[in-house]
Amino acid sequence: LYVHFLPALVQPEAFRGAVAVVVDVLRASTTIIQALASGARAVVPCLEVGEAHQTARAISHGQYVLGGERGGLRIEGFHLGNSPAEYTPQAVGGKTVVFTTTNGTRALNHARAADEVLIGALVNFSAVLARARGSAIAGGRPIHILCAGTQSEITSEDVLCAGAMIERLQALDALTGAALNDEAFLALAAWRQVNSETQRGGLAEVLQTSSRGGGNLACQGMAGDIEFAAKMDRLALVPRLDVAAWKIVAAGS
Ligand code: MLT
Repeated sequence: LYVHFLPALVQPEAFRGAVAVVVDVLRASTTIIQALASGARAVVPCLEVGEAHQTARAISHGQYVLGGERGGLRIEGFHLGNSPAEYTPQAVGGKTVVFTTTNGTRALNHARAADEVLIGALVNFSAVLARARGSAIAGGRPIHILCAGTQSEITSEDVLCAGAMIERLQALDALTGAALNDEAFLALAAWRQVNSETQRGGLAEVLQTSSRGGGNLACQGMAGDIEFAAKMDRLALVPRLDVAAWKIVAAGS
């Protein structure tokens, strides 16, 4: 079991033959999960705003929505920002979401060499781990959890989520005693420390007060997104990146 605190701390080749779980709790992963749970046909991750417009031009009018952020805010000319609550069935049901964010879509691109690229967050915690475990055991593959970070810096909401994932994976049969890299070990220790000090339901407060991503959102008046993202197991949906078709769909669909 491996954790990487930032894409810059791991070579893309390290994902070859692995199951990758890409984590951007605030907010790209959480928003992608919500978009698919609301009935979006697919989410197409784009690195640049221009690329997103170009991708959208190839889709029939009315069949897509442009979503994402720069500097945390909705991009001019886009339909939606990066708040998961915006991705309602009315907004995205039956449509392709053409999506670009500062860190999350870059992290996905970084992990593209993996055998399977899954998108994980607190909101689909148990579901994504069940899928990752199944795929790892079936194929004898390692699991690499890649934290997206914020503006190229490590951010604790992703590290804490990764630590919680390691704790759960180690508790699952066949993965008990699995070796950890040093970042997995540190993430697990950080999660255990926070978890032992946090009152039930207090995770949102921890994310808001002690994480870079949470602090940024709170300053921009988007603390509601932190509450949304901190609710574990709100959804059972697991997004999977279809690398060949370059789109994210619900695993199993
Ligand atoms: C990102 O992918 O950069 C983040 O999700 C930023 C944000 O919260 O909007």
